[in-house]
Amino acid sequence: MTDLTLAIVHHLIVFGIAAVLAAELALMRPAAMSPHTVRLLGRFDAAYGVLAIAILVAGFARVWYGAKGPDFYLQNHVFWTKVAAFAVVGILSIKPTLRILAWQKALKADAAFVPPPGEVTALRRRMLAEIHVFALIPIAAAVMARGIGLGA
Ligand code: HEM
Repeated sequence: MTDLTLAIVHHLIVFGIAAVLAAELALMRPAAMSPHTVRLLGRFDAAYGVLAIAILVAGFARVWYGAKGPDFYLQNHVFWTKVAAFAVVGILSIKPTLRILAWQKALKADAAFVPPPGEVTALRRRMLAEIHVFALIPIAAAVMARGIGLGA
């Protein structure tokens, strides 16, 4: 029952992250920029932060309390590849998060604030990279779940 509950929660959070990333990417384009878009980006990015922490907790809860036991994962290099890919996604998201936070501040000082197009384009490129690395994670997940990569 614990294993099933953790699996359900894990999947729901994963789809939540994918939805938030897609929404942020759709908004992160110079032509779409407006004070309202900046505010929405702030909200989505806050949700993204909460979901990222939640998947980390749910993921490691599956490692420790899942049906297969921690050794199944901790000795699997594909599991660590998955964790590394997650870390890369996290590292790639630092800059967009910092800029989105700075934009919220700028918006408080100037209600008509919109970020410069060059900055938006650069962040969009970075978020595209982030989404591509994110897409590698379920691939590693399916591989490791089947015991491929164990004992290496
Ligand atoms: C560091 C964070 C994470 C940890 C520690 C973690 C850990 C786990 C564990 C232990 C399982 C169970 C595999 C099994 O059934 O034996 C699992 C399954 C899965 N994870 Fe994660 N996970 C994390 C983040 C993610 C993320 C961000 C994604 C999506 C991008 C993801 C996608 C999946 C999928 C799709 C499965 C099901 C695999 C299958 O049954 O074929 N996980 N994860």
